[in-house]
Amino acid sequence: MERLQKVIAHAGVASRRKAEELIQQGRVTVNGEVVTTLGVKVNSNDRIEVNGLPIYKEHPVYFLFYKPKNTLSAVSDDRNRPVVTDYFSHIEQRIYPIGRLDFDTTGLLLLTNDGEFANLLMHPKYKIDKTYVAKVNGIPNKQQLNQLERGIKIDNKTTSPAKARLISHDIKKNTAVVELTIREGWNHQVKNMFAAIKCPVIKLKREKFGFLTMGNLQPGMYRELKAFEVEKLKNMAEN
Ligand code: URA
Repeated sequence: MERLQKVIAHAGVASRRKAEELIQQGRVTVNGEVVTTLGVKVNSNDRIEVNGLPIYKEHPVYFLFYKPKNTLSAVSDDRNRPVVTDYFSHIEQRIYPIGRLDFDTTGLLLLTNDGEFANLLMHPKYKIDKTYVAKVNGIPNKQQLNQLERGIKIDNKTTSPAKARLISHDIKKNTAVVELTIREGWNHQVKNMFAAIKCPVIKLKREKFGFLTMGNLQPGMYRELKAFEVEKLKNMAEN
């Protein structure tokens, strides 16, 4: 289910704000009924008309993107910082990121214009493994790695069982590289987990999202997901 104004905007009829005006002016119908309140949710089976004309949904597209450092996981920024969709300027569909990576985090980010798909993947009950590689200050010992794996309390919630593996360490610099696979997608979760074991993150990259990896992509590059990959993600979410 998606908000009516968002569906109208995605169909390319009007901007989100203009779509809201059209709704409030009584120029939008859903299954033949005029809707004038904002916030009504519709699904893909609902018949939507604007000024008596049916809207057509954009062709759904799905991208796997290698987010570079210092890019915002957003479609625009009021402070004019680079955003991930800058890399898709020639894509005509109105795509947006599914979830977020921090400004300074690099790695695998999915983008789509399919709201139902995005909602499905972002739903808290949909716990897909996400693998990060973090360079941290300090060298975590076995006990600290166990702590990461068993669960860390952050804001009164405890993280689900995770997998943590020390990849390398540098005794002189007192730094380490750790692979961490988590199931949720809370804000700054990986940084907060490492902060909790007193090994603050210096650098963070997401290497895997479920069965998806970045393959040969370089920062700033993307590829379209294959139909079977989209189906597999949907099936994983629905079951
Ligand atoms: N966890 C973080 O702390 N930052 C990210 O960007 C992603 C996960």
